[in-house]
Amino acid sequence: MKVLLVVTDVSADVAREAEQARHRQEIEQASRLAALGELVGGVAHELNNPLTAILGFTEVMTLSSHAAPLSEELAIVQKEALRARNIVRDLLFVVKPGDTTRTVIPVADLVAHIERLRRAAWTQQGIRWDIAIEQPCMAWGNEQQLTQVLLNLVTNAEQALTGRPERHIRIRATSRDGRTQISVSDTGSGMDEATRSRVFEPFFTTKQGQGTGLGLSLSHSIVQSHNGELRVESSPGVGTTFTFTLPAAADEPARPRLDSAPAAAGTIRVLVVDDEPSLRKVCQRLIASMGHECATADTSASAVELAAHSEFDMVLCDYRLGSETAGDVVAGLERVAPQLISRMVIATGATTDAGVIELTEKHGLRLMAKPYGVNELSAIIREVGGAAR
Ligand SMILES: Nc1ncnc2c1ncn2[C@@H]1O[C@H](COP(=O)(O)OP(=O)(O)OP(=O)(O)O)[C@@H](O)[C@H]1O
Ligand SMILES: [Mg+2]
Repeated sequence: MKVLLVVTDVSADVAREAEQARHRQEIEQASRLAALGELVGGVAHELNNPLTAILGFTEVMTLSSHAAPLSEELAIVQKEALRARNIVRDLLFVVKPGDTTRTVIPVADLVAHIERLRRAAWTQQGIRWDIAIEQPCMAWGNEQQLTQVLLNLVTNAEQALTGRPERHIRIRATSRDGRTQISVSDTGSGMDEATRSRVFEPFFTTKQGQGTGLGLSLSHSIVQSHNGELRVESSPGVGTTFTFTLPAAADEPARPRLDSAPAAAGTIRVLVVDDEPSLRKVCQRLIASMGHECATADTSASAVELAAHSEFDMVLCDYRLGSETAGDVVAGLERVAPQLISRMVIATGATTDAGVIELTEKHGLRLMAKPYGVNELSAIIREVGGAAR
C-alpha cells in the first residue's frame, strides 16, 4: 500500500511538472509571438514614411507634363509602391486586428484588399467575379472591422456557390445622399424564408460542423456600431444579396458632405507639420498641385509660431515629431489659435498607437493613415479645410 502511494505521488509530480513545462512553453511562445508582432509592426510603420514620399512624388511627376516620356515607367513605380503599401497594410492588419479607430476609407481599397485575399481561391473554385465601384466612394469607419464584414459576406457567398452550375460573385458600391452602400451578391443556393429570417442570430448556422454561425451576427453588430444597416435579399435556387450602408466619409456628424466641397470657395490654406523633410516637400507639391496653399513646419514651436501669425484653414500634423508628438502642437495651438484644433488631422502610420487614439479622441481630431496618396489628401483637405470656408 505504501509503495503504491509513493508511485502515485511520483506520477502526480511528473504530471504536474509536465503541465508546468507546457505552461512555461506557452508563455514563452506567446511572448515570442508578441515580440515578433512588435518587430513586424515596427518595420511596417517605418516603411510608411518612405512609401508616402515615393507615392507622393510619383504622383507629382505624373501630373507634370515634363514627365510624359517616362509615363510608362512612372506608372510601374506607382503600381509597385502601391503594392508595397498594401503589403504594409496587410501586415499591420494581422499584427493589430482589434482597434476601433475610424478613418476615411476609400471603398475601392477595402474591396481591393478582399480581392487580393480571395482571388486565388475564387480562381481555383471556378468562381467568376466582378466589382463595380462608383467614384468617389468613401466610407467613414474602422478599416479592419469593415474588412472583416466584407470578408464574412464574401466567404458566405463562396460557400453558397459550392456545387452550383453558375458561380458568380458581384461586389457593388455607391455613395449617394450621404450614405455609402456596399453589396455582395452571389448566384448561390439562396435561402428560404425560415433561414433568411434567422441569419443574423448568433450561432445560427446551416453548415453543420463547418460553421459557427457567428459571421453574420458579428458583421451585423459591426455595421450597427457604424450607424449603418445590414440587409439581406434572397431567392432559393437563384442567389443572395447582402447590402450594408454606412455614413459616407464626409457625412460624419457636423462635417460637410464631400461633394459639397468648396470648389468655388477658393484656395484652402494648409499648415503641414512633419519632421521628415521629404514628407514636408511632397505635401507641399501635392497641395500646390491641387491649387491650395501650403506652409510647413518641422517642430511644434515653428508650427505654433506660424499659426500665431498667419491664417490657416486646417493643420495636417504628423503624430511623431522627433522627441515631440502632435500633442505638443495641440497644446501650443490652444494658446495661439484654438479654433484650428478642430480642423487638425493627424497623419500617422500608427493608427492603433495608444497615444494617437487618446489624442484624437480627446480633441475629436481626424486621423489619416500613412502612406496616403493624392486622392486621400485631396478628400481630407476638401472635407476639413473646406469646412472652414
Ligand atoms: N450568401 C448566402 N447564401 C445562402 N445562405 C447564406 C448566405 N450567407 C449566409 N447564409 C446562411 O446564413 C447562415 C449564417 O451565416 P453566418 O455567416 O452567420 O454563419 P456560418 O457561415 O454558418 O458560419 P461562420 O460564418 O461562423 O463560419 C449560414 O449558415 C447560411 O445558412
Ligand atoms: Mg459565415
